Amino acid sequence: MGLRIAHIEKLFRDHGHIAYDGEGVTQLEHALQCAQLAENERAGAELVTAAFLHDIGHLLNLQGETPTERGIDDRHQYFAVPFIRPLFPPRIVDAIRLHVDAKRALCALEPEYYDSLSEDSRRSLTLQGGIFSREEQAEELCRRFEAAYEQTIAAAAAWARQRVLYLIWKSPWMTVARDTYISRMLATVGWDTCEIKSEARYPAFEPTPGLLQEEDVVLLSSEPYSFRDRHRLEILDLLPAHSRTRVALVDGSMTSWYGSRAIQGLTYLREFRRTLR
Ligand SMILES: [Fe+2]
Ligand SMILES: [Fe+2]
Repeated sequence: MGLRIAHIEKLFRDHGHIAYDGEGVTQLEHALQCAQLAENERAGAELVTAAFLHDIGHLLNLQGETPTERGIDDRHQYFAVPFIRPLFPPRIVDAIRLHVDAKRALCALEPEYYDSLSEDSRRSLTLQGGIFSREEQAEELCRRFEAAYEQTIAAAAAWARQRVLYLIWKSPWMTVARDTYISRMLATVGWDTCEIKSEARYPAFEPTPGLLQEEDVVLLSSEPYSFRDRHRLEILDLLPAHSRTRVALVDGSMTSWYGSRAIQGLTYLREFRRTLR
C-alpha cells in the first residue's frame, strides 16, 4: 500500500489539475501554496513536506466535484496515512493526520481564522466535527505545550549550559530564585539562574563588577520593572572592558506569564537564546 516518490509525482500529474472546490485553485496549486507558506515561515524540511502533502488524501480517494455539497467527508487526513507511513517519518505523517484537527482547533482559539475560511471550508469543517469543544481545546493546548517543550529541550541539548542573572527590579536590584517559574523557563534553554544567598523568592542584591563578570548572560526583564536600553548600558558600564558577559533586554511576559504565554514563551526563549550575540 505504501507510496513511493514516483507514485506521488504521478498522483499530482494525473490529478493535480482537479479544482480545489470553492478555492479558485487546483490541488497542485493548493499544495504548492501551502509548502510556500511553510517556507516563508522558515519551517523545517519535514513541515514543508507535510504542508505540500497534507491533502494528498483527496488525490488518493477521488470523490468527484465538491463532495461536501453532498454531505460527504472524505476523511482525507486519515485516508492518506497508510499510504504515506512507509515513506515518511512520524513527524510528517502526524502533521498530515492532524491537519483537520488543527483547523478545528484554530477556529476555536482564533476567531479571525474562522472568519477567513471560504464557504466550502466552513462546510467541510461542519462535516469534520466542527469547531473544537472546550475539552478538545484544552487537549490541543496540552499537545502544543508538550510539543513546544520537547522542541525546546531538544534544541537546548546541543547548547552549553550558561549562567544567567535575570533582573526584575532596580532600587534595589532584584533577581529570581531557582524555585520560580521564570528560573525554570530559563532552564529549559540551558540557562541556570544565579543563586544569590537569600531565602527570598525575589532576592535583592548588589550588582558588583565581580558578581556580574561571573555570569555568561545578564538579562533585564521588560517587567515588572520596565527596563530600557539605558539600564542595559548602565550594567555594561559596570563590567570591565574585556568582559565576555552579554547583557540584553528580554520580554518578561514570555518568561513569567504562566499559562497564557507558556507555549509562546518556550518558542520565544529558544529563538532568543539562538540569536543572542
Ligand atoms: Fe485538508
Ligand atoms: Fe488543504
